[in-house]
Amino acid sequence: MLTQGADKRMFCGNMTDYVLGYTNSEQERLIRQAAKLAPITERFFREAGIGSGQRVLDLGSGMGDVAMLVARLVGPSGEVVGVERDTNSIARARARAAAAGLRNVSFLNTDVNNIVSSQPFDAAVGRFILMFLPDPVSVLRSAVGLVRPGGVIAFQEPSWAAMLALGSGLSLWSRTRHLIHETLLRSGAHREMGLALYRVFQEAGLPAPEMHLEMPLGSDADFIRLTSDLLLSLLPLAEQHEVSLEELGSLDTLPDRICAEVVEANTVVSLIGVVGAWSRKSAAADSSRGEPAEIPESSA
Ligand SMILES: C[S@@+](CC[C@H](N)C(=O)[O-])C[C@H]1O[C@@H](n2cnc3c(N)ncnc32)[C@H](O)[C@@H]1O
Repeated sequence: MLTQGADKRMFCGNMTDYVLGYTNSEQERLIRQAAKLAPITERFFREAGIGSGQRVLDLGSGMGDVAMLVARLVGPSGEVVGVERDTNSIARARARAAAAGLRNVSFLNTDVNNIVSSQPFDAAVGRFILMFLPDPVSVLRSAVGLVRPGGVIAFQEPSWAAMLALGSGLSLWSRTRHLIHETLLRSGAHREMGLALYRVFQEAGLPAPEMHLEMPLGSDADFIRLTSDLLLSLLPLAEQHEVSLEELGSLDTLPDRICAEVVEANTVVSLIGVVGAWSRKSAAADSSRGEPAEIPESSA
């Protein structure tokens, strides 16, 4: 099937389930989370070498925040193509990019497993996408195949272990995070995709990536809601996988009770641990096929 959107050279195919769903409140949570993560993601992309004039592919765009951030980094002479399979998310991402006056970003309504482009990208990026895919290595390998030799591959994925290790003295906060973690675990989402990027990059044919971990810390109500609202988005899954939330009491008052606990302890809590991994596609090999591609050094 020929895809919609600006780039008619791309094609799309089948879909699978996405555990967080597409409710309005989850979309709003994603936007608020993206605002909190923006400085971390921007620093990471700059370090990885994303910059002016580049053509960049963003996998799993959601509300479009990563694509818009990259669109500002590459500037008017660059271009970003965001890939997202949910039609409503794409519509909102397009509207938000237009409202922000960004003309160098387009969104493609398709599955990340099925992207084809006749024009190479300078970079492929993504945030919190590989953790939801049944076969992240295969998707990454395909993305690498769309990037020119010497181009950048840069992904940010979560580490729940890092988050769970902090704040264990806060009882309600700990139980809330534990139940979110348990629900994600039973749903099959890869909670430790962050550290797994080291292996996933190499299995996709890339050199071992440069990596680091960052964790935003905070104590205000908006910050805490980013996590408690995640639990609300996961309610259908918690029910489906028989994760009982009874011990948390009323979910309506949960954010206020967690806030009170954090204030009482006069401490900060963490958002998800964000692991960044980046690498460059070899100038001498086509890693999408795992064999030498006879590409001259000068084209990198
Ligand atoms: C957690 S959101 C992340 C959005 C954005 N990258 C960010 O960090 O704000 C993951 C997004 O990936 C999309 N997604 C999941 N699986 C996908 C697939 N196979 N193909 C395309 N998009 C997918 C979901 O629809 C969702 O919008």
